[in-house]
Amino acid sequence: MNKPKLFLILGLVLLATGIEASEAKKAIEERITPVGQVCVEGQECAETSSVAESILSGSRTGEEIYNSACYTCHAIGLAGAPKFGDKVSWGERANEDLGRLVETVTNGLNGMPQMGLCMDCSQEELASSVQYMLDALN
Ligand code: HEC
Repeated sequence: MNKPKLFLILGLVLLATGIEASEAKKAIEERITPVGQVCVEGQECAETSSVAESILSGSRTGEEIYNSACYTCHAIGLAGAPKFGDKVSWGERANEDLGRLVETVTNGLNGMPQMGLCMDCSQEELASSVQYMLDALN
């Protein structure tokens, strides 16, 4: 075998293994990509911000949130929860500022767990679910 041919073959082999290696690297990188990312406020974080945007755009109504997260306790007044549509059990709470009520829901209060157990709820969604409950009192 003459030299140029040998180099040609050697070159092809190196090229082939190089491509294979980069394919393998890509596959590994895909597999070890974290499912979630932690983002610092004010810094760019493309994936998460698009998720946050879809939540903020109000994809779920107050009624939907209520039915999926709050209903369990508030429909029957579990653990002393103010009952849906029942002015008496709401008492003074019915006249509270919406922002204050949402704050309470966010932080939790006695028998009510934080976020009313809707862990993926945005503040807007929590607010609309509280508003939905308040509207039921009128
Ligand atoms: C595990 C039961 C439970 C779930 C789930 C729950 N709550 Fe509650 N909630 C309670 C209880 C108990 C209270 C009464 C707390 C107290 O006053 O001691 C309460 C109180 C409240 C209040 C009145 C807060 C205040 O400042 O007095 C609001 C508003 C409220 N819940 C909204 C919600 C919303 C909205 C959801 C769903 C996103 C939700 N809750 C889910 C149990 C629950």
